[in-house]
Amino acid sequence: MEKNNYLPLSAEQLNLLTELSKSLSPEQLNWISGYFTGLSAQGLKLATISENSHKTYSFDPSADTKPIEKGKSLTILYGSRTGNGEGIAKQAFKNATDAGFDVKLKSMENYKNNDLKGETNLLIIVSTHGEGEPPFQARNFYDFLFSNRAPRLENINHSILALGDSSYLNFCQTGIEIENRLLELGAKSILQRVDCDVNFRVQAFQWIADALNVVKNGEGGVTSSIASSVLMVDKDESTYGKTNPFRAQVLEKSFLHGRSSKRQTLHVEFSLENSGLTYEPGDSIGVFATNPPELVDSLIKTVNLSPSDSVTSENGTSTLHDALFHNYELTQLTPDVLNRFVKLTDNDKIKQILTSRDLVKEFVHGKDLVDMFTAFPEKLSVNQFVSLLRPIQPRLYSISSSPLAYPDEVHLTVGVVKYKNGERDKTGLCSVFLSERTEENESAPVFVEKNNNFRLPENPETPIIMVGAGTGIAPYRAFVQHREMNEKRGNSWLIFGNRHSESEFLYQLEWQRHLREGSLTHMDVAFSRDTKERVYVQNRIHKHGKRLYDWLENGAHFYVCGDMKKMAHDVHASLLDVVGKYGGLSNEASEEYLLDLQQKRRYQTDVY
Ligand SMILES: Cc1cc2nc3c(=O)[nH]c(=O)nc-3n(C[C@H](O)[C@H](O)[C@H](O)COP(=O)(O)OP(=O)(O)OC[C@H]3O[C@@H](n4cnc5c(N)ncnc54)[C@H](O)[C@@H]3O)c2cc1C
Ligand SMILES: Cc1cc2nc3c(=O)[nH]c(=O)nc-3n(C[C@H](O)[C@H](O)[C@H](O)COP(=O)(O)O)c2cc1C
Repeated sequence: MEKNNYLPLSAEQLNLLTELSKSLSPEQLNWISGYFTGLSAQGLKLATISENSHKTYSFDPSADTKPIEKGKSLTILYGSRTGNGEGIAKQAFKNATDAGFDVKLKSMENYKNNDLKGETNLLIIVSTHGEGEPPFQARNFYDFLFSNRAPRLENINHSILALGDSSYLNFCQTGIEIENRLLELGAKSILQRVDCDVNFRVQAFQWIADALNVVKNGEGGVTSSIASSVLMVDKDESTYGKTNPFRAQVLEKSFLHGRSSKRQTLHVEFSLENSGLTYEPGDSIGVFATNPPELVDSLIKTVNLSPSDSVTSENGTSTLHDALFHNYELTQLTPDVLNRFVKLTDNDKIKQILTSRDLVKEFVHGKDLVDMFTAFPEKLSVNQFVSLLRPIQPRLYSISSSPLAYPDEVHLTVGVVKYKNGERDKTGLCSVFLSERTEENESAPVFVEKNNNFRLPENPETPIIMVGAGTGIAPYRAFVQHREMNEKRGNSWLIFGNRHSESEFLYQLEWQRHLREGSLTHMDVAFSRDTKERVYVQNRIHKHGKRLYDWLENGAHFYVCGDMKKMAHDVHASLLDVVGKYGGLSNEASEEYLLDLQQKRRYQTDVY
């Protein structure tokens, strides 16, 4: 292929591009630039995109001669937190309806558990969240299923699509547990459970087609032909989304910690102008980052390969250096990589580690791929090496601005991840990409991730209580800005925690202004390391328990955002104590009180 001296394109490619660009409006040009950036950020080629994201494996009722028994009933039940499972469930519902099933689509959140014993054909789509826990939306169904009240389910034919992420230790745990419990209760699996990793689309749509075929034809029906004619319904109606992120320009960056702090939090403002992207307070932004160049170099050296080695993978062909820079996770070591490493090398020590979750957890803590290959040098070919790696994933950040206060902009509050492991200084992929490798006026590929499970009350006069530690304050900045734009607004109470008041009081001046102007009516803070005895947000909940209980009794909505591992559990425990103490309730009744709040969407969490 003849190449132009100055461009990485052949003359033929250049001609095509020039011809195309002549016909494009500025908006179309902008869209295309974001689209190709997205492809490049994910290492995808156009052919892969069109195959995988626009092709739907639809059930084709005309593919064989057996008609569907009139009104054959089917229930599609989903438990989804970030919307992936919900999108798949809706697609399954559409395909099943088109095919003539008498089909019900139900979220586990609103499902009447007593209906379970009446089901005959049941397709379940459920994700795993937390550390191997059901998403909140599945909790009600999950608890019922595992309770003594769960009925025998011999009448049910089921299949499960489990959504997860193999970088977590408890991959697809909830789907696995639900399947085991259904079998224990006598239900019959008509199609093997499918466990989906982060790139779930192809598998999920294949499962829909297979499952509908089996329900229609009985076992063996899975071999029926599958049509691929329907365009997949995307979650996001904007032209930009996870598969084609928008290149958002950085308008402004500032660091929020004072000099004396050993850590840093970045405040970054992006422009969304001309993107068509919209968001509400409570939503997140996904950001695609590229790897630190020095880590790419160090890894190539450690595995004894050359940066110019050619790599062929599902992403196409490129140099090893470019593939590592754009396409793969390098900053953390995850269990899925260890599994592939053992399959390829039969390494005894890693095999031993993989026998126990605790050993895996301990081994991967703070490590990256350089650490693994330094400890276990294995001679691999370049393609073998790349086959071990995990595709790069976008990172999510809670939006910290209101679109009413900042139209065409979106703000994020990013904790900068830096730590030492042994002798090596480590940096987080995306937080440091934003803080150190993306300057003002440069751009980054982003998309909006909707979160309907973390929303302000519809009535702006409803009181709100917002609890957050560290960057968990982010969505509350959006909430309070949003309410500020409303003339009628109810009381609002922020309980914020961090380590030091002097250097880590995020957005202090803004909160003081809101308090002065009444857009925030109450604020309590807990700076854990200012005093001898450590004080956290949960201590503030205890301290102001009476007021908090009164607010809840007056209809307040309660929010928790930030650390999942400790804070969210401790806040929940404090809340139980407060409700028990001031409501005069037993432990069980307090649990029910909080469950009721959750079901009424008056107790919402956004934890990570
Ligand atoms: C819905 C949602 C909303 C979120 N909102 C925000 C937000 O508003 N602000 C925010 O800052 N983050 C937020 N996050 C977290 C964010 O997505 C990233 O996970 C975070 O920024 C780290 O990503 P990274 O690429 O910088 O680090 P990575 O490259 O992913 O590295 C992080 C990993 O480094 C390791 N590590 C980190 N510190 C240490 C240590 N001290 N010792 C040993 N190992 C360590 C851990 O394995 C950790 O998982 C949110 C996450 C979710 C799911
Ligand atoms: C905070 C958080 C925790 C998660 N924990 C797990 C986990 O423990 N195990 C797992 O397999 N997947 C885990 N996942 C991945 C989700 O299951 C995966 O993203 C899934 O596609 C989400 O589907 P949903 O949008 O329908 O909820 C986690 C995701 C997030 C954001």
